[in-house]
Amino acid sequence: MKLLEERIRQDGVVLPGNVLKVNQFLNHQIDPQLMYEIGQEFARLFKESPITKILTVEASGIAPAIMAGLVMNVPVVFARKKKPSTLDAGVYTAEVYSYTKKVTNTISVDQKFLSAKDNVLVIDDFLANGQAVQGLLEICRQAQAEVSGVGIVVEKSFQKGVSLIKESGVRLESLARIASFENGEVRFVEE
Ligand code: G4P
Ligand code: NA
Ligand code: NA
Repeated sequence: MKLLEERIRQDGVVLPGNVLKVNQFLNHQIDPQLMYEIGQEFARLFKESPITKILTVEASGIAPAIMAGLVMNVPVVFARKKKPSTLDAGVYTAEVYSYTKKVTNTISVDQKFLSAKDNVLVIDDFLANGQAVQGLLEICRQAQAEVSGVGIVVEKSFQKGVSLIKESGVRLESLARIASFENGEVRFVEE
């Protein structure tokens, strides 16, 4: 997605440790117009799929997910990161380890919001090591929901998340694909 690549070049900041800071439009301040165009692009890519629900994880996945939900006219569910209380019956849960933050989060979704009747599009802001997406796919598996695919705003193609998702046989669509960071510059995957 050209507009997104241009925005990353313009406002993205490459930090040590292969981290791209996009606080200007995605992870802290949010550009609603750009998010809307992202939602339209996901809707275009998955227009042949009978999607009934979008699933993401808080916090930064919510903005692109809600715009996709608006364009596709389906509800958006976000998995929560706060550990569910042991008294919480009826939740799907998955463990998500973050290599970046060296912590494991239990993500959870109330069973009433996802079922075998659903056809899900999973959306997230970043794909790095793929642990968050794997956790969301695990929750879909528990719900026995169909998964039409995974939509990612920024894919770091050099990390292992891409192959993890492809090995699971799920369709992956990423709007910006980063091949590498060189001297503080972003190099995108050539089409
Ligand atoms: P993974 O989900 O692909 O396994 O990623 P990883 O554990 O490496 O990443 C942990 C967190 O860092 C995730 O956010 C992920 O979206 C984010 N992240 C990974 N690489 C980058 C990057 O280059 N730039 C930015 N800005 N973020 C990155 P989170 O902490 O789970 O969520 P949130 O609360 O920010 O949504
Ligand atoms: Na995220
Ligand atoms: Na994030």
